[in-house]
Amino acid sequence: MSTTMSIQQLRSKFEKVFGTEADHTFFSPGRINLIGEHTDYNGGHVFPAAISLGTYGAARKREDKKLRFYSANFEEQGIIEVPLENLCFNKKHNWTNYPKGVIYFLQKAGHIIEKGMDIYVSGNIPNGSGLSSSASLELLTGIIVEKLFDLKLERLDLVKIGKQTENEFIGVNSGIMDQFAIGMGADQRAIYLDTNTLEYDLVPLELKDNVVVIMNTNKRRELADSKYNERRAECEKAVEELNRKLSIATLGELDEWSFDEYSYLIEDENRLKRARHAVLENQRTLQARAALQAGDLDKFGRLMNASHVSLEHDYEVTGLELDTLVHTAWEQEGVLGARMTGAGFGGCAIALVRKDAVAAFKEAVGKRYEEVVGYAPSFYIAEVASGTRVLD
Ligand code: GLA
Repeated sequence: MSTTMSIQQLRSKFEKVFGTEADHTFFSPGRINLIGEHTDYNGGHVFPAAISLGTYGAARKREDKKLRFYSANFEEQGIIEVPLENLCFNKKHNWTNYPKGVIYFLQKAGHIIEKGMDIYVSGNIPNGSGLSSSASLELLTGIIVEKLFDLKLERLDLVKIGKQTENEFIGVNSGIMDQFAIGMGADQRAIYLDTNTLEYDLVPLELKDNVVVIMNTNKRRELADSKYNERRAECEKAVEELNRKLSIATLGELDEWSFDEYSYLIEDENRLKRARHAVLENQRTLQARAALQAGDLDKFGRLMNASHVSLEHDYEVTGLELDTLVHTAWEQEGVLGARMTGAGFGGCAIALVRKDAVAAFKEAVGKRYEEVVGYAPSFYIAEVASGTRVLD
């Protein structure tokens, strides 16, 4: 998998597909989440970082009102053409529903997009890996339109439009973490975000002699969207039950003590587990930020481990593949911590590993995974990078 594409390559690919020159080129990263999983739609904290894997784009304004899209990741689909007016979700239009959604909501917010566009994209985030290829594409589209039509937008507007696309166009009830991390990312910084207030800090990711290894299960994320929406509904129902005595908008408002005190109000065992995860994961995220800032990476690693256990047993979003990777990682020399990252149900896990132990780590985890699951995982070293940007 190539991790970079030069502007020159990008421009010449565009020209090959559309027979004309691109006006500008762009890049939008993917993301990992260090800790704070399934907390963003529960009003809690998250701690993600943008990475150097992502989606490249090249685009040109057209003279008519056609939108023409081409993805190097779905070459067999060729150019997909839709009219700029009356944009709506169409299953047959596949990946282009993401850019269509973003353009639709930009128009709806009153931005004037008077002409069509040719848009070429090429991503190196492995498909369905849970590193947010969709949010990467949403923010990429946002910045393309912003640049080509000289729109007056704050970065946070694009972040929100990305999330709106996911929620209202695609139909996944996700929180704001992915779009925020991708839009606001900064080099060598993790983003500590309060999803309730949208206040955030860019925290230097000082890992000393360690690196973050991304472990890809290479499992398709089947049923992920419906299970995701189900978890969200379970948490909302738990809030309703707690509100027989409390007055809270989200689970993120509770600490572990107040949760314990009122948890008897939650009548269903599963909902109790889901809510407990949301509350404790938020507390772990606060502690993880403090540990990172104090340079206590051992503690940071242990919080990652605890996060995984909670996602496995209370939130139940892991599965054989993620658990095999993470449990095997825990047993390896030089590993400070490991957990799944993103929505779960397949996708990727991350491990904090001492640099000189990485080769042996990959070998041992890869071997065990193949024995248990029947096919190989993939490994990448996470390079923490800046957010969505214009290249030239
Ligand atoms: C997906 C969603 C995010 C977040 C994570 C789980 O990535 O898009 O909003 O909820 O799952 O932490």
